[in-house]
Amino acid sequence: MKRSVIDTVDLSVEEVRQLLDTAMDIIADPAKYAHACAGKKLATLFFEPSTRTRMSFEAAMYELGGNVISMTDAGTSSAAKGETVADTAKVVSNYVDIIAQRHPKAGAALVAAANASIPVINAGDGGHCHPTQTFADLLTIYREHGNMNGLTIGFCGDLLYGRTVHSLMAAMARYEGTRFVLISPEELRVPRHLIEDVVESAGIPCEEVTSLEEALPKLDVLYMTRIQKERFDDPAQYERLKNVYVLDAEKMKLAKPDCIVMHPLPRVDEIAVEVDDDPRARYFEQTLNGKYMRMALILKLLGYGNSSLSRDPAQTDPSLTCAGGPFSFWAEAQEDAAWRCANPKCICAAERSIRHKYYTAKDGSRRCVYCEQ
Ligand code: NCD
Repeated sequence: MKRSVIDTVDLSVEEVRQLLDTAMDIIADPAKYAHACAGKKLATLFFEPSTRTRMSFEAAMYELGGNVISMTDAGTSSAAKGETVADTAKVVSNYVDIIAQRHPKAGAALVAAANASIPVINAGDGGHCHPTQTFADLLTIYREHGNMNGLTIGFCGDLLYGRTVHSLMAAMARYEGTRFVLISPEELRVPRHLIEDVVESAGIPCEEVTSLEEALPKLDVLYMTRIQKERFDDPAQYERLKNVYVLDAEKMKLAKPDCIVMHPLPRVDEIAVEVDDDPRARYFEQTLNGKYMRMALILKLLGYGNSSLSRDPAQTDPSLTCAGGPFSFWAEAQEDAAWRCANPKCICAAERSIRHKYYTAKDGSRRCVYCEQ
C-alpha cells in the first residue's frame, strides 16, 4: 500500500508543518513549481457533488505541470453498473499516478487506499473526514497567526455530519493550548468517538453549548458550517434545524476584533452576505489556500522534496509512519465472523463485498476501521 491520506492525522505534525512551508514557498515563487509534476496524472474520482475541492485539486495539478483525468458524475461511470470502490481504485491505478476521491459513504477513502497501488487522497468520505479542507483551514490560520498555538476555536452548526469539523478538530488537538467551543443543537453534537479519542485523550478544554451569541466573545476563530441536508434520514428534522444559526453583522459585534470567521463553503443561509464585507471574514481566502495546500500534498505524496524539487525516495516509503490516523486502525484491523459494522452510513453497508474489520478502542469497544463508529 502506498502512502495515502485518509485524515489529517495520517501526517505527523512535522509533516503538516512541511506542507505549510511548501505552500508558502509556492505562493512566493510559483514558477519554481510549474513543471514539478510534468508527465504525472491525477484522477479526481467524485461520487458526490463538489465545486471547490475538485476544481482546486485539478487547478493544483495543472499548476504543477501535471495532467488530470476526472470523473465528476458517478452516474456516467461504471459505479452505476455496480462497480465497487475497491475495483475502481484497482482499475484507476493503471491509468494515473495519484487519486483524489470523494464518496458519500464514510470509510470509502480507506477502501480505495487499501486497494489502489498508488497514493489516494481522501477528498471527503461521507460525514467522516475531509483532510484537504483541513489543510486549507490550517494554512488560513497559519497565515493569520503565524502559528497554530493557543487558539480558542468555535465550531458552529452541523457538528455531527460536518466532516470538515471532524478533521479540523483532530488536527488542532495536536497543537499546544488549543481550546474548543462546540456550538450546535443537541441533535447535531460532535460524534462521541471524536470527543473520546480527540478531545478527552488530548485533555483539550472543551465546552459544548447551544448559543452562538454566548460563545462568540471567547473565540479567536469561528468555524461556521452548513447543516448537511444530504446526510439526514428525516427531511423534517433538516427543515427544523436548517436555520438554527445565522451569523450576521449584528452578531459580529460580539466577536473579538481579531476573531477570524471561517467556513469550508458552500454556505446556505448560515452566514449573511453582509458579513463578507467584515475584515474578519476569511472564507474566500480559504478556497485559495486549499489550492496551495493540495499542490503541496500532491508533491509530497508523489515524493518530491520541497526545496530542490528533486524526488526524495524516503518520502515514497510505503510504511504508514504516523500513529493515530485512520491508517493506524487499518494496521491494527481484526476480523471476527460475528462482528459487523452497524453504521448504515458506512461503506460496509453499501458494498457487500467488503470484509468488515474492527479495531479495539481505548474503552475496549470494537470500532469499524473504515468509519470509526
Ligand atoms: C465541505 C464538504 O464537502 O464537506 N465543502 C468543501 O469541500 N469545501 C463542506 C460542506 O459541504 O458543507
